[in-house]
Amino acid sequence: MVDDMLLTPEAVRDAERWTAHNYHPLPVVISSAEGAWVTDIDGRRYLDCLAGYSALNFGHRHPRLIATAHEQLDRLTLTSRAFVHDQFATFCHELADLCGTELVLPMNTGAEAVETAIKVARKWGYQVKGVPAGKATIVVADGNFHGRTTTIISFSTDPDARNDFGPYTPGFKIVPYGDLTALAEAIDENTVAVLLEPIQGEQGVVVPPAGYLPGVRQLCTEQNVLFLADEIQSGLGRTGTTFALDHEGVRPDMYLLGKALGGGIVPVSAVAADKSVLGVLRPGEHGSTFGGNPLACAVATEVVRLLATGEFQRRSAELGARLHASLNGLIGEGLVAVRGRGLWAGIDIDPSLMTGRQACERLAERGVLAKDTHGSTLRLAPPLVVEPEELDFAVTQLREILS
Ligand SMILES: Cc1ncc(COP(=O)(O)O)c(C=O)c1O
Repeated sequence: MVDDMLLTPEAVRDAERWTAHNYHPLPVVISSAEGAWVTDIDGRRYLDCLAGYSALNFGHRHPRLIATAHEQLDRLTLTSRAFVHDQFATFCHELADLCGTELVLPMNTGAEAVETAIKVARKWGYQVKGVPAGKATIVVADGNFHGRTTTIISFSTDPDARNDFGPYTPGFKIVPYGDLTALAEAIDENTVAVLLEPIQGEQGVVVPPAGYLPGVRQLCTEQNVLFLADEIQSGLGRTGTTFALDHEGVRPDMYLLGKALGGGIVPVSAVAADKSVLGVLRPGEHGSTFGGNPLACAVATEVVRLLATGEFQRRSAELGARLHASLNGLIGEGLVAVRGRGLWAGIDIDPSLMTGRQACERLAERGVLAKDTHGSTLRLAPPLVVEPEELDFAVTQLREILS
């Protein structure tokens, strides 16, 4: 098809015309999807190797999730938490069981789960730990990504995320990721929490050194500090286990979950912790009109049930091994580094060859969607329903653009 017969260029121009330029999307206009594949308005198909930044772990339109959503749409969609609805307890109970915690508090976006965690940790600090009023600090890591609210970007180390959005929320200390000595030095009597991603996704799928996460757990326990694990991107099967922390046998004081929890259908996030922590909240202190709504709870309960089968974790582990083996084979052939776990890889392309953006554009021309992050780094995170041959197809396209 000649270019001026395509619908895509005008649709891209229209999208740019009518919105703020807070994203720089690839020029692909998607109109339908199923499983690991999406189709654009010109009928071209692409293997989705981003999966909505891991919000689509179960693929596009997983039949069980879609059926649940349809059923719930036909019955009840929203009540607000002014009333109880019949999907609420089931969801909280089953997610608590998956997390091994006593309580769950649902919200909508990942950033809201992070905000919940920060508020709960501060209140816990004042009411349980005995930190003097207004003095609570939370230790975070260099290179973190926890969302886009003004408080969260206050402790970002990414100038694009942070600059020109001040004044900033105080009360955060930033330490190098993976450095236990620096973390130990940053903790003092006013520290209420350490907030970390077990694997830093936006930073380029950075896996900390072995022993770091158990070390964080130990330090937090010794110093009476809460370990808040942001598993919004790393959790729910992405790395080959239910949570990325499972690889090192670590349990945090609070899980922060989002993205895949909504099954790629609705935004659902939650924090999960024991009563000793989440029990500090009282009516009127925190909430959200849409948080824990019936549609969200119905879909997310089905997500929890899919995860409870273990099938997706197993697929991620097995197919992840295949993906990493073939990506590692490209080191020296256009790639300079490969990181990650399960079906999640950060790959650094030799910067003398092309930028990450150029790589993504070339991959898209060959039917593979991926997303660059800083410089010449790409993230690959296909849906966990991807087939082995489809992964091989993606790696073949990558090899072609690098050669
Ligand atoms: C680790 C982590 N935390 C929090 C968030 C924020 O989630 P949301 O975009 O749903 O607010 C993200 C989003 O990419 C993330 O990767």
